[in-house]
Amino acid sequence: MTLKLIITQSVRSCETMKRPEPFKIKMVKNLKRLSREERENKIENTGYNVFKLRAEDVFIDLLTDSGTSAMSDIQVSEMIRAEQAYAGSDSYYALKRSVQDIFGFEKFVVVHQGRGAENILFSILVEKGDYVPNNMHFDTTKANVKHKGGEPVNLVRQEAYDPELRVDFKGNMDVKRLEEFIQEKGVEKIPLIMLTITNNTGGGQPVSMGNIKEVAEVADRYDIPFFFDACRFAENAYFIKQRETGYENKSVREITREMFSYADGFTFSAKKEGLVNIGGLIGVEDKKLHEKCKNLGIIIEGFPTYGGLACRELSAMSQGLQEAVEDQYQTYRHQQVEYLAQLLLDENIPIIEPAGGHAVFVDAKRFLPDIPQERFPAQALTTELYKEAGIRAVELGTSAFGETDEEGNMIPAEMENMRLAVPRRVYTLNQLEYVADSIRKLYERRDDIKGLKRTYAPKLLGHFMAEFKPVK
Ligand code: F0G
Repeated sequence: MTLKLIITQSVRSCETMKRPEPFKIKMVKNLKRLSREERENKIENTGYNVFKLRAEDVFIDLLTDSGTSAMSDIQVSEMIRAEQAYAGSDSYYALKRSVQDIFGFEKFVVVHQGRGAENILFSILVEKGDYVPNNMHFDTTKANVKHKGGEPVNLVRQEAYDPELRVDFKGNMDVKRLEEFIQEKGVEKIPLIMLTITNNTGGGQPVSMGNIKEVAEVADRYDIPFFFDACRFAENAYFIKQRETGYENKSVREITREMFSYADGFTFSAKKEGLVNIGGLIGVEDKKLHEKCKNLGIIIEGFPTYGGLACRELSAMSQGLQEAVEDQYQTYRHQQVEYLAQLLLDENIPIIEPAGGHAVFVDAKRFLPDIPQERFPAQALTTELYKEAGIRAVELGTSAFGETDEEGNMIPAEMENMRLAVPRRVYTLNQLEYVADSIRKLYERRDDIKGLKRTYAPKLLGHFMAEFKPVK
């Protein structure tokens, strides 16, 4: 299938929000706004790490779209109706129907969240010295591969690294490089191939159906299992509907079924497009692998019919999955993220283009060109945004993805972004306008923003607990 390497016109129009939100607000949480002085004290006390802020001290929380969705009235009522049982609950069977219906997978294992799925799957498949190719690993996926002694390898197409290039499917795997890589390292060193849909680390960018098929063909030819990291599968399906020839008249549900028909399995954090606060899945086709996942799951997550979750959470997930594949919901979701992106583009603020499915990524390399990556410009920007407006974003740059060489020198990350993740069904357009306006103010005074010095970071996933000091 040929790709449409074209400018995505739809994102360029600020009239994107033509359709109103397909829901009304039934319950609200009042927000508190601290003074600038209070925010400055709070962030200093955290060691300039927004993960260590108290949520109540945040006015608008764009740290993550994970586990932060607002649930529907049906989800909440299903939770109340759910009856708790250790084994074989109704909630489990409701989830089983949704998993079969949406993904077309009969065999699956429930886990408490995405990294639980990664832990189980990689513990079984990955051995020391193995390589796991992916278009791009997310931080926990990368850490889980490394934790098993494997080497995570990113083989996304080169265009993904150019933030200004408006290409439709920037999350696509470079299939030629994948094949060369398999031949270079040998099939026996590659226990699985993964595709992250959408590619979170690279800007929430989608993978085309054509690319999914090509990767599946390569995996099939070399007899290597092919798995999705499927956290944002429905957003990916919606992008295919919008951008790939032949899919414009198909529903998100139909596209999802086709996508998953090419995979041998998947890991899934339901905290994203399960529209729940907690939960995850491993889907597999292979009977033996399923048995192994179930048995290891019992040790580290729980019996397969609850997998570390309360039954009410299974019920919420089974309903959430159904809501995530509704075209009307996905239209709203994408328009909301595009709207925020367009507001920033209108102010010439450098972001990864086109906008991602779940977040807008501000390119700190272009926002703060005078701060070298060794001084963590994306982290500096993130802490400044909190100080400026009480908005919590997250750094996806050198703090999250940088490495250290054998002499202890820092190897900066390829991309240096501040991610504004939009929780699902949570914030209004007014609130997003406030976000855009606050970033505009920061952009105007960008010359005053200084870098940070990292004073502490654990070895794996160091960004969660890292501490920084401002550079004078
Ligand atoms: N894979 C991807 C692509 C993810 O984005 C995440 C989590 C995971 C796996 C792990 O899932 O959190 O349920 O264990 N991403 C969140 C984020 C944390 O903010 O992007 P988890």
